[in-house]
Amino acid sequence: MHISAELRELFAGANRVLVLTGAGVSAESGVPTFRGGGNTAVWKGMPFDVISSAEMVERDLPAVWEWFDYRRHFLEELKPNPAHYAIARWQDRFAEFTLVTQNIDGLHQKAGSREVIELHGNIWRARCTACGTAYNMAQEKRPDACFECGDLLRPDVVLFGEMLPRGAFEFAAVRASASELCFVVGTSALVYPAAGLPEIAKAAGAYVVEVNPERTPLSSQCDEVLTGKAGEVLPLFER
Ligand SMILES: NC(=O)c1ccc[n+]([C@@H]2O[C@H](COP(=O)([O-])OP(=O)(O)OC[C@H]3O[C@@H](n4cnc5c(N)ncnc54)[C@H](O)[C@@H]3O)[C@@H](O)[C@H]2O)c1
Ligand SMILES: [Zn+2]
Repeated sequence: MHISAELRELFAGANRVLVLTGAGVSAESGVPTFRGGGNTAVWKGMPFDVISSAEMVERDLPAVWEWFDYRRHFLEELKPNPAHYAIARWQDRFAEFTLVTQNIDGLHQKAGSREVIELHGNIWRARCTACGTAYNMAQEKRPDACFECGDLLRPDVVLFGEMLPRGAFEFAAVRASASELCFVVGTSALVYPAAGLPEIAKAAGAYVVEVNPERTPLSSQCDEVLTGKAGEVLPLFER
């Protein structure tokens, strides 16, 4: 793995930088990626994409909560890795820094990242199915019902069959189109519209860099591909 002189120079001088992360950035923290087994998970006989679906929220919300309570419990012990910490340090280094993640695990925030654009929500939040009020479950226990209106709560994550939170992608797209340097870290680049962000950045003239131990559908469109683990590659930029 080699970082080009051009990229080092850009990193040293860029003003507007965007980072898009996927499940791979959390792999070294012990969070299973989709393709690394996460998508084959079965909960009480139900495949992952059935229990994590909009339909199941309608049909059996307590079962959905059991599954998400179990996942939060699993994540509780996990810590950010050097990739999360490197990205957190980068936010104070550039005039305009944007972090967009497809992850719901909250590890970027745990590492100190602020104003993270979460395209798929956050497993540490619940929201009211009626009025939309959000509840943080990182410090406090999950409430049984909404304190505002008394209705049922659901996980504040984007489930299969659901739209992205309004405005999140649009805001990320605006930032992508203004970026000079764009990093795509640990995503298989298969899930749209997130996978469209590097394309937007590229079309607007940004230098696009992929960090992934494996090739992806995006690799051939990138200006530079850094083949390796995020936790090993990202800290190299500060040397
Ligand atoms: N941590 C999480 O919150 C989490 C975990 C699994 C899935 N998901 C969800 O599943 C969807 C899957 O899309 P995706 O593209 O994010 O994940 P993905 O599982 O489809 O792809 C993960 C990518 O990370 C790469 N990878 C593995 N180890 C890596 C490492 N150490 N460093 C860098 N890259 C590494 C893999 O080669 C792969 O390309 C997303 O929508 C996401 O919301 C989230
Ligand atoms: Zn409510």
